[in-house]
Amino acid sequence: MSAQIISGRAIADEIRTELRPRVAALRSRGITPGLATVLVGDNSASQMYVGMKNKAAQELGLHSRQITLPADTPEAELLGMVAGLNADPTIHGILVQVPLPAHIDEGKVIEAVHPSKDVDGFHPMSVGRLATDSGDFFAPCTPAGVVEMLLRSGHDPAGEHVVVVGRSNLVGRPIASLLLRKGRGGDATVTVCHSRTRDLGAITRTADILVVAMGRPESITADMVRPGAVVIDVGTHRVPDPSSERGYRVCGDVLYDEVKEVAGAITPSPGGVGPMTIAMLLANTVKSAELAAAEARD
Ligand code: GUN
Repeated sequence: MSAQIISGRAIADEIRTELRPRVAALRSRGITPGLATVLVGDNSASQMYVGMKNKAAQELGLHSRQITLPADTPEAELLGMVAGLNADPTIHGILVQVPLPAHIDEGKVIEAVHPSKDVDGFHPMSVGRLATDSGDFFAPCTPAGVVEMLLRSGHDPAGEHVVVVGRSNLVGRPIASLLLRKGRGGDATVTVCHSRTRDLGAITRTADILVVAMGRPESITADMVRPGAVVIDVGTHRVPDPSSERGYRVCGDVLYDEVKEVAGAITPSPGGVGPMTIAMLLANTVKSAELAAAEARD
């Protein structure tokens, strides 16, 4: 039997609908949540992602400021730009798109973003609070999107064995941390696999929920999935396809056509985790504006 298809587009729409009255409430108090995106260089994928984030922010009625800097921008200039955004009361969220050009120390830039505006959840303080399940923080958008998709499609991870494939700072590690937390969206039993894992398939087959963020196209095959398991595919790749007019097609880390015949539920790529990342960025920006407004009132 074919799997339940978990649509990231539909769930992201649901989240945006829930955000609208919160944005309206802020605006009625004279506050427009503001998101600043910073893109350095001309990486075409990054340009596309940042463009989508700004468009989504505008559609929700947020103030969106898109800053594009040339690839040879000195690190000091970028740090100065971030400092300016930290001090700007009309900006509640700052996102510096990564990867950055090689001459810029990414860690330094991430640490320069004030944690109260770190809607990406990349700052070491946000990462530390997530890892220790303590204090308030912004959860990184893609991992938070994965958890939200599970919950809203009826697959609460509590008590389940979740196998995460990938240990990146952007996705694999924070997903594991979120799933390990106590309470909503957490309480899972988590195994993290990576490029050095011996016999990957033997471990992925033990998953009730399999989250794949390995960054390699169509690498999870049907024989690696337990029948009935929930499969979340974080990957997005362009692969050459001479039969397509564009000369390429978009796919995930999972061999979708094959795995959907075995899985109980599966996310497509595109149309799965991607739209959720943007929805969670909007949610974090609205939350940041609400926190700033509450602080101003106190
Ligand atoms: N590059 C790829 N994904 C992301 C993301 O979620 N945030 C930022 N800042 N850069 C990215």
